[in-house]
Amino acid sequence: MKVLVVGSGGREHALVWRLAQSPQVAALYAAPGNPGMARHATCVPIKTDALDDLVGFAERERIALTVVGPELPLILGIVERFQARGLAIFGPNQKGAALEGSKVFAKALMAKHGIPTARFQAFQEAASARRFAREVGVPLVVKADGLAAGKGAIVCRTLEEADQAIALCLEQRAFGKAGEQIVVEEFLVGEEASFFALTDGEMALPLGTAQDHKAVFDDDQGPNTGGMGASSPASIDARMHDEVMETIILPTVHAMAAEGRPYRGVIYAGLMLTPQGPKVLEYNCRFGDPEHQTIMPRLQDDPLPLLHAVARGDRLPSTVRWRPEAAVCVVLASGGYPGDYQTGKPIAGVAEAEKLPGVTVFHAGTALKDGQLVTAGGRVLGVTALGADIPAAIARAYEAVAKICFEGIHFRKDIGRKALRHQGR
Ligand code: AMP
Ligand code: GLY
Repeated sequence: MKVLVVGSGGREHALVWRLAQSPQVAALYAAPGNPGMARHATCVPIKTDALDDLVGFAERERIALTVVGPELPLILGIVERFQARGLAIFGPNQKGAALEGSKVFAKALMAKHGIPTARFQAFQEAASARRFAREVGVPLVVKADGLAAGKGAIVCRTLEEADQAIALCLEQRAFGKAGEQIVVEEFLVGEEASFFALTDGEMALPLGTAQDHKAVFDDDQGPNTGGMGASSPASIDARMHDEVMETIILPTVHAMAAEGRPYRGVIYAGLMLTPQGPKVLEYNCRFGDPEHQTIMPRLQDDPLPLLHAVARGDRLPSTVRWRPEAAVCVVLASGGYPGDYQTGKPIAGVAEAEKLPGVTVFHAGTALKDGQLVTAGGRVLGVTALGADIPAAIARAYEAVAKICFEGIHFRKDIGRKALRHQGR
């Protein structure tokens, strides 16, 4: 089968790396891909939002399955464009992708269908938002409705901060159209976890859990990033796993169907594990990055038949098999990220790092310049290690990290530590 992966980050590299091991894959393409993905796939220079070009390529090459990595093409409607030409594609259509594309839609859906989430209200007008902020009390969270490059959720510790965040979105229009509406919600306390489930629109198959590390510095200090590292599995025991499936994932699948938005693809529920049980912080309509870099190495079964079944609307199996190991991914970032950073810095040591058993280095922001691997983005590499347990995976990942260098390299030293704290180690 010919397979196309859309995207160019660490998440897509992990997907391509895993699909390249599938006996069912005859040829693998990535659009636009990156130098790491080029080791397993033919990279074609088509941007992820160039929907016409992607459809044209898939038709010409007779691609049997396209898997979409990032949210933007899904929200732009890539899935219906492919389906209109009879091409199988993994991901929700535009109506489904609203789960991530509009926080106001997602929150209203949860409220209507009794899915646990933070108490909230949606606003288009600042004065009433400010009144509600006083009713909720601080800390609280102000969220832009639409996509805001990971910067749209503002945690406010004081009412002054809340007023500023409301003004930033609704009056100064800092997020443009994405901030024309906002959600003001109660602050939830607990441990965060990312929960993934495939769905064909009716049933759901859990596809792993992970813990992301969003803040740029150790101990969750500093501004939020796309994710500085992940450990998998998350600290979710069997009972809580069932609770998430029964109170969050399946109700979400059924709610979307009931709203006339049957959802096919992966549901990524960003959870807060509160003393009152798991609650949804946000939904995403795609796999997580860096979380997927820890899930793919742990998955024992071939993901291809699963993704293909979802794309075609075929029945999913009821379980998947996992390797017994844990995985940890440490993101190596450019100095200055998530603010301004320089690119084009030569990268050394990737091959040495990958000589360590259980280690894979996934590329995110890299490029080849005159045959030399150089930095080309904020998040540069995801150094992922399998280990017998999380401590072993942490040790192995940092052993690998120590072999890699580039000017300005910056990474967190505490990836995975939260998971240990939770286990009481
Ligand atoms: P979101 O874009 O909604 O996932 O928010 C980004 C990050 O902000 C989350 O990963 C949390 O760390 C934090 N956050 C969002 N909503 C809440 C909330 N209601 N309570 C506490 N933290 C939150
Ligand atoms: N790791 C956060 C995200 O994928 O949105």
